[in-house]
Formats: sequence, structure tokens, C-alpha cells
Amino acid sequence: MKALLTGITGFVGSHLASLLLNDGVEVIGTYRAHNSQQDGKRFDIPSIKDVRHVECELRDAAAVDALLAAERPDYLFHLAAQSFVPASWASPSDTIHNNVAGQVNLLDSIRQQGLPTKVLIAGSSEEYGEVHADELPVTELNPLRPMNPYAISKIAQDFLAVQYYRQYGVPVVRMRTFNHIGPRQNEHFVTSSFAKQIAEIEKGLRPPVLYVGNLDAERDFTDVRDVVRAYWLAIQHGTPGECYNIASGRSWSIGSLLQLLLSLSPITVTIEQDAARMRPSDVPIVIGDAAKFSSLTGWQPEIPIETTMREVLDYWRDK
Ligand code: GDD
Repeated sequence: MKALLTGITGFVGSHLASLLLNDGVEVIGTYRAHNSQQDGKRFDIPSIKDVRHVECELRDAAAVDALLAAERPDYLFHLAAQSFVPASWASPSDTIHNNVAGQVNLLDSIRQQGLPTKVLIAGSSEEYGEVHADELPVTELNPLRPMNPYAISKIAQDFLAVQYYRQYGVPVVRMRTFNHIGPRQNEHFVTSSFAKQIAEIEKGLRPPVLYVGNLDAERDFTDVRDVVRAYWLAIQHGTPGECYNIASGRSWSIGSLLQLLLSLSPITVTIEQDAARMRPSDVPIVIGDAAKFSSLTGWQPEIPIETTMREVLDYWRDK
């Protein structure tokens, strides 16, 4: 059994790779050449040492054709994306081009080569965007009201996947994953950003001032290891063409997560709002309903948020 993961150097890629390797799956991971310095560090992660890494620019259709012709994977997990919401405002066309063109090239190559590869598309709860209070928790039937270019790119990926399934029968399952967190996440994302600052304050590397954005937003967080477990179940058992929420079913305010992290540290800090961390628009509250996926596979999130936060903080302390 062979699985190809796009974006092996990303946060989810390394966690999914270790799960698949443990299950005896051969794992091939793609990365982009211009990330080579960062990749070098990522490739040191013990759990992904056994992954075969292949450089591939997914926006290049010929490169994608060659990759799929050579590998002919049983499973393709398409994880590679520009995934940071503020970056999608800073450079909207890059986000749209990266996220949409890369996926079109993958699906079109599978179609043209007639490969039997089953595909998982990593979509996002950002596709739902603005959610009304009476719609919580959000099911897959909720209207999509995107609030930023990243969300639009994910809707385009989602709908393109449906088209490739309906027109050509490419077996694609679409995930709408709510916030996921854990060790090795990039410092731009909220819990890593806070944990990194706390770890640096503990070491005396910066004054005891913690910079934050919107603490009132409420998000539905799941540990990345629970998420990759869901992805592995989804690609094996998901119905082609269908979409599935992956969520915990409860929300935490960003402020409460900050307090949880601070309770794990001996430091005392001043909290300061940083204007650069505030967004032009921010979905106020998100809670997801994963019942459709749970009833299909029995999946439930297992790792308590306290454990995740402790491990995130320890990760930044050890860096
Ligand atoms: N990044 C960041 N930094 N966010 C902050 C901060 C801060 O200092 N302070 C408050 N926030 C708030 C943001 O405004 C947002 O409401 C929330 O924390 C979460 O922000 P992020 O961690 O950056 O994640 P996101 O919700 O924008 O997007 C993540 O989840 C999506 C799924 O819902 C990403 O992982 C996306 O790729 C993913 O699709």
C-alpha cells in the first residue's frame, strides 16, 4: 500500500506520515524546492525519516504528471496549501493560485492517466465563514459564507473535487477540518504563537509582554493527531464525492486558551493587543458537528486540550 502526501514538510504532513508508517504504509512526501532550508530541519524529525521525499512544484502540471506516473499511489492526501488566513489577505492571488492550481493539476493528472488513486482533500471550516448563532454546531449542509481569500481558495478546492468526482469518477473525499493544533505547528498560528512567546519569556529571551490579537474569537480545536487519524479513516472508508466535518463539537475562546497556557507556566506577563494581529474580518464563533463522519467511522477526538497545550508549550521550550 502506497500513500503520497503533498506538503510533507507541513504541520499535518509529518503527523500523518508517522501514523501511516506505523500502519506499514509506504509513504512518499512532496515538498517545494524553495523551502529547502526549512525542509532540511523538518526532515530531521525522527518520525518522518522513513518517508521518501520528492521535490515537486504542484503548480507545474508537467511535474505533477511525472510524479504521479512514477509513483502511481493507492492513496493521495492533498495537504499542501497556503494555510494562514492573514497571508491570504497579504497576497490573495498567491493563495488562490497555489491552493487551486496545485489541486487541479493533481486531479487532472489522475484523470488523464486513469489512475485508481483515492484522494483526500484537506478543506477547512473557514469555508463556512460567517456562521449564525442558530446554525451552531455547523453541519456539512450549512451555507458557505467565506470571509477571506483563503476560505475562497478552499471552497474552490472543495467544489473542484466534487466536479472531478461527478464528471470523471475520480474518487475524492473532502474534509472540512476545524482548527487543529499540536507540536510542530508554525508559530504564526495562535496557540503556537502564544506558546513560543511564553517559552521565550521563561528563558529570559524577551520581556514579559505577551502580544495577542482577537481574544474574543471562539474556535473548535482538535489535536492534530486526532485529525490525522480521521484522515486515514476517511480515505479508507469515506464515500467518494462526500464531504465530512472534522471537529470536537465544542469551542474555546482564544482568551481562555491563553489563560490555560499561562497556567502551565510560572511566569507573570502583561498582555498587549498587537494591531498587526487583528484581522480585517474574523469569524466570531465556530463549533463543528462531526456526527456524519463519526457515524460512518466511529471516530471521536481522544486527546484532551490540556494535554495538547502542555505538549505545544514543551515543544517550544525544547526548540
Ligand atoms: N494567529 C494568531 N495570532 N491568531 C490570533 C492571535 C495571534 O496572536 N490572537 C488571536 N488570534 C485569533 C485569530 O484572530 C483567530 O480568530 C484565532 O485566533 C485562530 O487563529 P489561527 O490560529 O491563525 O487559525 P485560523 O482560525 O485563522 O485558521 C486555522 O484553522 C483553519 C480551520 O478552521 C488554520 O489552521 C487554517 O489553515 C485552517 O483551515
